[in-house]
Amino acid sequence: MSTEIPKGKKLNRYGELENIELTVEDWITCWEKKHIGFHKNEIHRLLKKHLNTILNGRKQITIFVPLCGKSWDIKWFRDQGHKVVGVEVCKIAIEEFFTEQNLYYTKEAVPEIPGAEVFKSADGHISLYNCDVFDFSSLIAGKFDGIWDSNSLIAINPPDRCRYVKLMTSLMAEGCCYLLDSYTFNENLITGPPFSVPKDTIEGLYAQSCNIQWMESIEALGELQISWGLDSFIEEIYLITLKTSAQS
Ligand SMILES: C[S@@+](CC[C@H](N)C(=O)[O-])C[C@H]1O[C@@H](n2cnc3c(N)ncnc32)[C@H](O)[C@@H]1O
Repeated sequence: MSTEIPKGKKLNRYGELENIELTVEDWITCWEKKHIGFHKNEIHRLLKKHLNTILNGRKQITIFVPLCGKSWDIKWFRDQGHKVVGVEVCKIAIEEFFTEQNLYYTKEAVPEIPGAEVFKSADGHISLYNCDVFDFSSLIAGKFDGIWDSNSLIAINPPDRCRYVKLMTSLMAEGCCYLLDSYTFNENLITGPPFSVPKDTIEGLYAQSCNIQWMESIEALGELQISWGLDSFIEEIYLITLKTSAQS
Protein backbone atom coordinates (compact mmCIF):
# COMPACT_ATOMS: atom_id res chain seq x y z
CA MET A 1 0.00 0.00 0.00
CA SER A 2 1.54 3.35 -1.01
CA THR A 3 1.60 6.13 1.60
CA GLU A 4 0.03 9.30 0.29
CA ILE A 5 1.91 12.46 1.12
CA PRO A 6 -0.56 15.27 1.92
CA LYS A 7 -0.31 18.53 -0.05
CA GLY A 8 2.23 20.94 1.43
CA LYS A 9 4.06 18.09 3.21
CA LYS A 10 7.13 16.02 2.38
CA LEU A 11 8.87 13.05 3.89
CA ASN A 12 11.97 14.30 5.63
CA ARG A 13 15.24 12.41 5.82
CA TYR A 14 14.07 10.74 9.02
CA GLY A 15 11.02 9.29 7.21
CA GLU A 16 8.68 11.75 8.96
CA LEU A 17 6.11 14.06 7.39
CA GLU A 18 7.05 17.72 7.61
CA ASN A 19 6.04 20.97 5.92
CA ILE A 20 7.69 21.66 2.54
CA GLU A 21 8.57 25.11 3.82
CA LEU A 22 9.83 24.89 7.37
CA THR A 23 8.14 27.11 9.92
CA VAL A 24 9.92 28.32 13.04
CA GLU A 25 7.92 25.70 14.96
CA ASP A 26 9.34 23.00 12.63
CA TRP A 27 12.87 24.20 13.44
CA ILE A 28 12.15 24.07 17.17
CA THR A 29 10.91 20.50 16.70
CA CYS A 30 14.20 19.65 14.90
CA TRP A 31 16.12 20.82 17.96
CA GLU A 32 13.78 18.97 20.36
CA LYS A 33 14.31 15.75 18.38
CA LYS A 34 18.05 16.45 18.02
CA HIS A 35 17.76 16.41 14.21
CA ILE A 36 20.67 18.83 13.93
CA GLY A 37 22.98 17.21 11.39
CA PHE A 38 24.00 20.74 10.31
CA HIS A 39 25.77 21.39 13.64
CA LYS A 40 29.50 20.68 13.74
CA ASN A 41 31.62 20.40 16.86
CA GLU A 42 34.39 22.43 15.25
CA ILE A 43 35.21 25.90 13.96
CA HIS A 44 34.17 26.24 10.32
CA ARG A 45 37.33 25.53 8.29
CA LEU A 46 36.57 28.13 5.61
CA LEU A 47 35.87 30.74 8.29
CA LYS A 48 39.32 30.08 9.75
CA LYS A 49 40.80 30.52 6.29
CA HIS A 50 38.84 33.66 5.40
CA LEU A 51 38.60 35.39 8.78
CA ASN A 52 40.76 38.26 7.57
CA THR A 53 38.22 38.92 4.84
CA ILE A 54 35.66 39.78 7.54
CA LEU A 55 38.15 41.71 9.66
CA ASN A 56 39.71 43.64 6.78
CA GLY A 57 42.53 44.76 9.08
CA ARG A 58 40.17 45.82 11.89
CA LYS A 59 40.41 44.69 15.53
CA GLN A 60 37.61 44.20 18.09
CA ILE A 61 34.74 44.47 15.64
CA THR A 62 31.08 43.49 16.12
CA ILE A 63 30.00 40.49 14.07
CA PHE A 64 26.44 39.41 13.36
CA VAL A 65 25.66 35.69 13.06
CA PRO A 66 22.13 35.15 11.71
CA LEU A 67 20.37 31.81 12.40
CA CYS A 68 23.31 30.99 14.65
CA GLY A 69 22.23 27.66 16.16
CA LYS A 70 24.91 26.69 18.69
CA SER A 71 27.78 27.33 16.29
CA TRP A 72 31.27 27.07 17.75
CA ASP A 73 32.26 30.01 15.53
CA ILE A 74 30.52 32.39 17.97
CA LYS A 75 32.92 31.68 20.84
CA TRP A 76 35.87 31.61 18.44
CA PHE A 77 35.11 35.20 17.39
CA ARG A 78 34.74 36.22 21.05
CA ASP A 79 38.03 34.55 22.00
CA GLN A 80 39.75 36.80 19.46
CA GLY A 81 38.37 39.95 21.06
CA HIS A 82 35.33 40.54 18.87
CA LYS A 83 31.75 41.09 19.95
CA VAL A 84 29.14 38.73 18.55
CA VAL A 85 25.41 39.18 18.13
CA GLY A 86 23.44 36.13 17.03
CA VAL A 87 19.78 35.43 16.33
CA GLU A 88 18.28 31.99 16.82
CA VAL A 89 14.61 31.08 17.08
CA CYS A 90 15.15 27.98 19.22
CA LYS A 91 15.91 28.54 22.90
CA ILE A 92 17.31 25.00 23.25
CA ALA A 93 20.09 25.87 20.79
CA ILE A 94 21.06 29.00 22.73
CA GLU A 95 21.00 27.24 26.11
CA GLU A 96 23.07 24.37 24.71
CA PHE A 97 25.55 26.88 23.25
CA PHE A 98 26.27 28.49 26.63
CA THR A 99 26.32 25.17 28.51
CA GLU A 100 28.56 23.37 26.03
CA GLN A 101 30.95 26.33 25.76
CA ASN A 102 31.09 26.63 29.59
CA LEU A 103 29.98 30.24 29.55
CA TYR A 104 27.84 31.90 32.20
CA TYR A 105 24.96 33.94 30.86
CA THR A 106 22.20 36.24 31.92
CA LYS A 107 18.95 36.69 30.07
CA GLU A 108 16.61 39.59 29.71
CA ALA A 109 13.51 40.52 27.77
CA VAL A 110 13.86 42.48 24.51
CA PRO A 111 11.35 45.32 24.86
CA GLU A 112 11.10 45.88 21.08
CA ILE A 113 10.13 42.24 20.35
CA PRO A 114 7.25 40.76 22.36
CA GLY A 115 8.23 37.38 23.84
CA ALA A 116 11.89 37.62 22.77
CA GLU A 117 14.83 37.25 25.13
CA VAL A 118 18.51 38.07 24.78
CA PHE A 119 21.06 35.74 26.35
CA LYS A 120 24.29 37.57 27.21
CA SER A 121 27.66 36.15 28.22
CA ALA A 122 29.00 37.44 31.55
CA ASP A 123 31.64 39.55 29.75
CA GLY A 124 28.94 41.09 27.54
CA HIS A 125 30.78 40.07 24.36
CA ILE A 126 28.19 37.54 23.17
CA SER A 127 24.49 38.44 22.83
CA LEU A 128 22.20 35.80 21.37
CA TYR A 129 18.65 36.91 20.61
CA ASN A 130 16.01 34.21 20.89
CA CYS A 131 13.51 35.37 18.28
CA ASP A 132 12.46 35.05 14.67
CA VAL A 133 15.13 36.75 12.56
CA PHE A 134 12.38 38.59 10.70
CA ASP A 135 11.45 40.38 13.96
CA PHE A 136 15.06 41.61 14.33
CA SER A 137 16.26 44.99 13.03
CA SER A 138 19.03 47.56 13.43
CA LEU A 139 16.86 49.24 16.10
CA ILE A 140 17.62 46.34 18.45
CA ALA A 141 21.44 46.13 18.44
CA GLY A 142 22.59 48.63 15.81
CA LYS A 143 24.47 47.82 12.61
CA PHE A 144 27.41 45.46 12.28
CA ASP A 145 31.04 45.60 11.09
CA GLY A 146 30.91 42.02 9.88
CA ILE A 147 28.37 39.28 9.14
CA TRP A 148 29.08 35.53 9.13
CA ASP A 149 26.29 33.80 7.21
CA SER A 150 26.91 30.07 7.44
CA ASN A 151 24.05 27.62 6.85
CA SER A 152 21.71 30.59 7.14
CA LEU A 153 20.66 31.90 3.71
CA ILE A 154 20.57 28.28 2.57
CA ALA A 155 18.12 27.45 5.40
CA ILE A 156 15.69 30.26 4.56
CA ASN A 157 12.55 29.21 2.67
CA PRO A 158 13.05 30.41 -0.94
CA PRO A 159 10.00 32.74 -0.90
CA ASP A 160 11.52 34.55 2.12
CA ARG A 161 14.97 35.11 0.58
CA CYS A 162 14.38 38.68 -0.65
CA ARG A 163 13.08 39.68 2.79
CA TYR A 164 16.10 38.04 4.40
CA VAL A 165 18.57 39.81 2.11
CA LYS A 166 16.85 43.16 2.69
CA LEU A 167 17.22 42.58 6.43
CA MET A 168 20.90 41.58 6.14
CA THR A 169 21.79 44.64 4.07
CA SER A 170 19.91 46.88 6.53
CA LEU A 171 22.17 45.50 9.29
CA MET A 172 25.43 46.33 7.48
CA ALA A 173 27.34 49.32 8.86
CA GLU A 174 29.53 51.34 6.53
CA GLY A 175 32.54 49.15 5.66
CA CYS A 176 30.77 45.97 6.76
CA CYS A 177 32.32 42.79 5.38
CA TYR A 178 29.66 40.10 5.01
CA LEU A 179 31.08 36.62 4.47
CA LEU A 180 28.49 34.31 2.92
CA ASP A 181 28.89 30.55 2.87
CA SER A 182 26.51 28.96 0.36
CA TYR A 183 26.02 25.61 -1.38
CA THR A 184 25.20 24.56 -4.92
CA PHE A 185 23.82 21.10 -5.63
CA ASN A 186 21.17 19.30 -7.68
CA GLU A 187 17.91 20.43 -6.06
CA ASN A 188 15.95 17.80 -7.95
CA LEU A 189 17.53 15.11 -5.80
CA ILE A 190 16.54 16.41 -2.35
CA THR A 191 13.96 18.69 -0.81
CA GLY A 192 15.52 21.34 1.42
CA PRO A 193 16.67 22.69 3.69
CA PRO A 194 19.42 23.08 2.82
CA PHE A 195 18.35 24.79 -0.38
CA SER A 196 20.80 25.17 -3.24
CA VAL A 197 21.73 28.85 -3.62
CA PRO A 198 24.03 29.14 -6.64
CA LYS A 199 26.00 32.17 -7.81
CA ASP A 200 23.34 33.53 -10.18
CA THR A 201 20.73 33.42 -7.39
CA ILE A 202 23.13 35.24 -5.07
CA GLU A 203 23.69 37.88 -7.72
CA GLY A 204 19.94 38.26 -8.22
CA LEU A 205 19.46 38.74 -4.48
CA TYR A 206 22.36 41.04 -3.57
CA ALA A 207 23.67 42.77 -6.69
CA GLN A 208 21.32 45.75 -6.57
CA SER A 209 22.74 47.08 -3.31
CA CYS A 210 25.99 45.13 -2.90
CA ASN A 211 29.27 44.18 -4.50
CA ILE A 212 29.72 40.41 -4.58
CA GLN A 213 33.19 38.92 -4.64
CA TRP A 214 33.54 35.16 -5.11
CA MET A 215 36.33 33.91 -2.83
CA GLU A 216 36.49 30.12 -3.11
CA SER A 217 34.58 26.98 -4.12
CA ILE A 218 35.26 23.50 -2.79
CA GLU A 219 33.64 20.10 -3.21
CA ALA A 220 32.14 19.47 0.24
CA LEU A 221 30.40 16.17 -0.47
CA GLY A 222 30.49 14.01 2.64
CA GLU A 223 28.78 10.87 3.91
CA LEU A 224 25.75 12.90 5.03
CA GLN A 225 25.13 14.38 1.57
CA ILE A 226 25.76 10.99 -0.10
CA SER A 227 23.12 9.51 2.23
CA TRP A 228 20.71 12.18 0.92
CA GLY A 229 21.40 10.93 -2.63
CA LEU A 230 23.69 13.76 -3.78
CA ASP A 231 26.82 13.23 -5.86
CA SER A 232 28.11 16.79 -5.60
CA PHE A 233 27.80 19.47 -2.92
CA ILE A 234 29.77 22.56 -3.82
CA GLU A 235 30.48 24.99 -0.99
CA GLU A 236 31.14 28.58 -2.01
CA ILE A 237 32.37 31.59 -0.08
CA TYR A 238 31.55 35.15 -1.12
CA LEU A 239 32.44 38.55 0.28
CA ILE A 240 29.50 40.95 0.14
CA THR A 241 29.99 44.68 0.70
CA LEU A 242 27.59 47.58 0.36
CA LYS A 243 27.78 49.62 -2.81
CA THR A 244 28.70 53.16 -1.82
CA SER A 245 25.32 54.46 -3.03
CA ALA A 246 23.53 51.90 -0.79
CA GLN A 247 25.23 53.09 2.42
CA SER A 248 23.23 55.33 4.70
C1 LIG B 1 20.76 25.03 9.20
S1 LIG B 1 20.74 25.61 10.84
C2 LIG B 1 22.28 26.49 10.93
C3 LIG B 1 22.74 26.83 12.30
C4 LIG B 1 24.16 27.45 12.35
N1 LIG B 1 24.29 28.59 11.48
C5 LIG B 1 25.19 26.40 12.03
O1 LIG B 1 25.83 26.48 10.97
O2 LIG B 1 25.35 25.46 12.84
C6 LIG B 1 19.55 26.91 10.78
C7 LIG B 1 19.22 27.49 12.15
O3 LIG B 1 18.35 28.59 11.97
C8 LIG B 1 17.34 28.57 12.95
N2 LIG B 1 16.21 29.29 12.33
C9 LIG B 1 15.44 28.86 11.31
N3 LIG B 1 14.55 29.80 10.96
C10 LIG B 1 14.78 30.87 11.77
C11 LIG B 1 14.20 32.16 11.89
N4 LIG B 1 13.19 32.53 11.10
N5 LIG B 1 14.69 33.00 12.81
C12 LIG B 1 15.73 32.63 13.63
N6 LIG B 1 16.31 31.42 13.56
C13 LIG B 1 15.85 30.54 12.65
C14 LIG B 1 17.10 27.10 13.22
O4 LIG B 1 16.55 26.85 14.50
C15 LIG B 1 18.50 26.51 13.07
O5 LIG B 1 19.19 26.49 14.30
